[in-house]
Amino acid sequence: MKIRKAVIPAAGLGTRFLPVTKSIPKEMLPIVDKPTIQYIVEEIIASGIEDVLIITGRNKGSIEEHFDRAIELEDNLEKTQKQELLEEVRKISRMINIHTVRQKDPLGLGHAVYCAKSFVGNEPFAVLLGDDVVDSQKPCLKQMIEMFEQYNSTILGGQRVEWENVSKYGIVSGNKISDTVYSVKDLVEKPAKEKAPTNIAILGRYIITPKIFEILENTHKGVGGEIQLTDGLRELCNIEDVYAYTFEGRRYDVGSKIGFLEATVDFALKRDDLRDDFKAYLNKLNL
Ligand code: UTP
Repeated sequence: MKIRKAVIPAAGLGTRFLPVTKSIPKEMLPIVDKPTIQYIVEEIIASGIEDVLIITGRNKGSIEEHFDRAIELEDNLEKTQKQELLEEVRKISRMINIHTVRQKDPLGLGHAVYCAKSFVGNEPFAVLLGDDVVDSQKPCLKQMIEMFEQYNSTILGGQRVEWENVSKYGIVSGNKISDTVYSVKDLVEKPAKEKAPTNIAILGRYIITPKIFEILENTHKGVGGEIQLTDGLRELCNIEDVYAYTFEGRRYDVGSKIGFLEATVDFALKRDDLRDDFKAYLNKLNL
């Protein structure tokens, strides 16, 4: 079955990034000059998906505005003959069909995904976390879709992390099928290094079968009093085949301050219009 729909949960409180997230969604923080969530929508488009649902919440109105038309701004850019900027601004509102639904309370990622139930219906769908950006040769979601086409079952995007860091992630337990694919038997949340079954962490990209909705409907609150997607996926492993795929690319957790700073520096250094000046500045710092 073709993957036609993508869901971006973006309703979290962003407490790791306070105080800015008090009024500005972390998904709208710019990496150089583009909001994080736009990079994610561009990845979705480049992966051939036609419909996107963004799960929003209170204080997240600017996300909807960003993907809507900005008539006054467009008029102004037209009058002042700033053609390039005008095209840039128009491009965003024409990108793709964006739908939104509000998660009334941030009850956890599992609950946010459950809010997509009527949008998704009875077909497999993609989930991309609103604060996870992946810089890769082939779009990360496209790599995941290719894996789905091979296995026709849930695919969890992941990467090998340093063994020292396994206790920060949800870690795969299962059997190795190839260098990049594991058959998942279980997921272990933030294990101690000595207890971790692998060093493959689940990171921000998923293709999930609709069975997950039945499971999430009955998933109780877990760690932090939230309905955890990981708990739902663990149960899915008992019912259906679930695979973990280690995608190619550099993943940034833009919802953490250090991840955001790393993304900002790396993306700025890739920009033709900024690289030389920015590099000269960094060199001057003599770090
Ligand atoms: P995070 O755990 O990174 O988001 O969830 P958070 O809860 O906003 O983060 P902190 O820990 O408080 O800083 C990953 C993604 O899931 C969304 C977030 O917006 C983020 O994009 N999310 C999380 C929801 O949509 N709803 C939730 O209830 C929780």
